[in-house]
Amino acid sequence: MDNLDFEDNEVGRMISMICAVANDGVIGNKNQLPWPHLPSDMKWFSKQTRGNVVVMGRRTWHSLGLMKPLPNRINIVVSRQAEIAGANTVITDNVNQRVIDLQQEYPARDVFIIGGAQLYRSTMPITKKFYITRIYSDYPGDTYLDIEVLLENTKILQEKVIDASEEYPKHAFQIFQRVT
Ligand SMILES: NC(=O)c1ccc[n+]([C@@H]2O[C@H](COP(=O)([O-])OP(=O)(O)OC[C@H]3O[C@@H](n4cnc5c(N)ncnc54)[C@H](OP(=O)(O)O)[C@@H]3O)[C@@H](O)[C@H]2O)c1
Repeated sequence: MDNLDFEDNEVGRMISMICAVANDGVIGNKNQLPWPHLPSDMKWFSKQTRGNVVVMGRRTWHSLGLMKPLPNRINIVVSRQAEIAGANTVITDNVNQRVIDLQQEYPARDVFIIGGAQLYRSTMPITKKFYITRIYSDYPGDTYLDIEVLLENTKILQEKVIDASEEYPKHAFQIFQRVT
């Protein structure tokens, strides 16, 4: 597929989120991604997060089904209540402070919130950059994100649109940055 290299206009590391969203804000179904395998999105996710810190909610950790961390990234799984087998768990009632602490602990890396919906919503106030894959297609879902609310007070930095093909729906890779 096309080169997905974007110039990074940012100086300094920051707290970012990365999320793929289909029509009507659908992001999950039955604790899985709602759409069939989309290799370009997997590649995008890997490229952005590799070498960085990824923070996820307990349900997303289980949805990965790996029972071990994503490779080449520092993996943190958050819970309010319990250690999670095989995961580097942070138990906290103040996730935003813990994420800010992680950014200070790893100043040479970006911290990426990688889902799911609960964690995206909690960390929205401290998220500065938004890596959004828009999938322009309908899928059944039980987990949603109001992407328009999420992207209030942001400006778009980059967009790359991938036209529909026989195999894959139209989708776009977008990067937004908070302006206020
Ligand atoms: N489309 C995408 O890009 C994308 C990305 C990731 C996930 N997903 C999908 O999203 C769905 C899962 O999302 P979800 O919203 O149900 O669950 P989630 O956010 O992945 O996990 C929820 C759990 O994580 C912990 N947690 C979340 N927010 C917390 C906070 N502020 N402080 C402390 N702990 C917190 C809690 O664990 P405890 O209950 O242990 O306290 C909570 O029950 C799945 O379908 C998954 O496939 C989609």
